[in-house]
Amino acid sequence: MTDAKAVVERHYSQADLGDKILEAVRAAGKDPNALVPADLTPFDQFHLRGDAATRELAGMAELRPDLAVLDVGSGIGGPARFLATEFGCRVTGLDLTEDFCRTATMLTARTGLADRVSFRQGDALAMPFADGDFDVVWTQHAAMNIADKARLYAESHRVLRPGGRLALNDVLAGPKVDGLHFPVPWASSAELSFLIPPDALRDLLTSAGFRQCAWRDCTDAVIAWFQEMRARRDSAAAEVPGRHLVVGPDFRTRLANLDRNIREERLRVVQAVFERTD
Ligand SMILES: C[S@@+](CC[C@H](N)C(=O)[O-])C[C@H]1O[C@@H](n2cnc3c(N)ncnc32)[C@H](O)[C@@H]1O
Repeated sequence: MTDAKAVVERHYSQADLGDKILEAVRAAGKDPNALVPADLTPFDQFHLRGDAATRELAGMAELRPDLAVLDVGSGIGGPARFLATEFGCRVTGLDLTEDFCRTATMLTARTGLADRVSFRQGDALAMPFADGDFDVVWTQHAAMNIADKARLYAESHRVLRPGGRLALNDVLAGPKVDGLHFPVPWASSAELSFLIPPDALRDLLTSAGFRQCAWRDCTDAVIAWFQEMRARRDSAAAEVPGRHLVVGPDFRTRLANLDRNIREERLRVVQAVFERTD
């Protein structure tokens, strides 16, 4: 395994994550043997604004039943299960972190979605799929861990059929460029954080053979989401047991740094849809 991959795996790996999630599900009063995907939403959407962001991006990408979707950097599978349940898609998740793939597969079986959603361990820079296998490549909050973005988008282009769409939800570099406050949820230090500004992303995607269909800067919505979270934190009833599980025990520090980085214009958050043109 190359250094970059080992750093990603080290950052995210948690061998007992599945057991911890099932425990948290029980603590939330749900039956882990009769789960519906919505029971997992507090734990399994590992990106800013949770399932609201997933729903919005799916609308922008005009997802519909039976589209073959590849979720790149699928984590523990929350977005993949959401797209299958809410939009009827067939979803394959690809993730570098073995513990996450195992947990994603276990949770998917427990929600009865294994016939529509599956997971493969692998690298977004060398996707284990044939040319043109997918109608949609979907990715949320994974590109921030990937330095070689030209290769990421070349691979996304290759596995899409001509006319297929790339839907992305990512944290980008903001106008204030003198670094970030660490740790943040996707990286403990600059070693694992590779952010580019919006114009550079657009240029890369155009060079990779994509045409822009939709672009939404969600930074203000994220700022409002953080404000709401701060207000709710004052009410003990709003504390969701297990919310911290995927991010780790220092999740408050990581989220507070993320909030601060965004308010200080070090970061922007974007959702966009691009179409493969050739
Ligand atoms: C912040 S999590 C987001 C998970 C998921 N997309 C979600 O929104 O719930 C980032 C994920 O990207 C994965 N990842 C990072 N680099 C990757 C790579 N080169 N190939 C595949 N997955 C990668 C990590 O293992 C991790 O699961």
